[in-house]
Amino acid sequence: MQTLSQCHILLKRMNNVWEKRSQVKKQEIDPTPLLDPTKPDFRVDLLPFQNHQAFQEADPEMKNKILSCGWLIYNWKTVSIELKVVNPVCQDIIYHLFPGVSNAIIQEVATDTLVDESYHVQLVNKACSITREQRGLQHLEAPEFNLVLNLQREQALYEEEWQKMLIKLATSVVSEVFVSDYLKLLSTDTTIQPLNRVVVDTHRRDEDAHSCIFKNLVKCIYAELTREQKEFFINVIPKPVYWFADHELEIWQSLLEQIGFEQSQVIYTDCQQANRHNLMNIDYSEVIELVQELDHQRGEESLVNMGLMN
Ligand SMILES: [Fe+2]
Ligand SMILES: [Fe+2]
Repeated sequence: MQTLSQCHILLKRMNNVWEKRSQVKKQEIDPTPLLDPTKPDFRVDLLPFQNHQAFQEADPEMKNKILSCGWLIYNWKTVSIELKVVNPVCQDIIYHLFPGVSNAIIQEVATDTLVDESYHVQLVNKACSITREQRGLQHLEAPEFNLVLNLQREQALYEEEWQKMLIKLATSVVSEVFVSDYLKLLSTDTTIQPLNRVVVDTHRRDEDAHSCIFKNLVKCIYAELTREQKEFFINVIPKPVYWFADHELEIWQSLLEQIGFEQSQVIYTDCQQANRHNLMNIDYSEVIELVQELDHQRGEESLVNMGLMN
């Protein structure tokens, strides 16, 4: 395990390069030359029902509409993670609500990250508006994501404020570790609409740095927790791995219904039975590594209990 001062040095380094690497400091994207409505908005292999007969037999126009929904859901999930998971944790750090965060470097890193994430919300929201306008999908509305509902349900199980905050912290670090992978596939895909690829790639450039920032922030906080709090955190941290891997089928069913896809209920029922979440598609080795670094023995017990380790 890195020492606390090593974590601080690393965070200082990240803070020093923020102005150079941060996308909010770069020139704003001009969407006009990047629009190509003849290309699909999203990748078929990212749909949780890509192999379902009802989808495969849909006509090309409906398939493209479904792919546009995929793009919107992908962006809405990003906005939910930024606004309901990551930014609230940055705010908790700025308000010194966690132990071990009063250091000036940690404070600067938290405010830098808050700016980055707010920029991502702006970036992604604009992209959604363009897609809605271009594809005539202004009427679509989505229910809440299971990722957020699961976080809230877990928090509701506990009385103490510190327990609720640690659940949110665990969810944010897991999300920050996964989000780069989540963005990687689309960021290099030249078969989708160019604007969509550029938006995802711009976001990914910041997220590559965030994963390291959050892991180090968690290490700084964890070192200052009480024994009881440490045990609580170690037990809770594997849970968001499942929440992140959730296929969000309720949102899919709602959107498919809203665009008039007649097979929406069949797809929902079949996919729900087959795979509510699919850990096969996500690489959670970095989460395992982090948990082991925080507390090797307890960490492994917790990972085994939650089925993330044998
Ligand atoms: Fe972000
Ligand atoms: Fe982030």
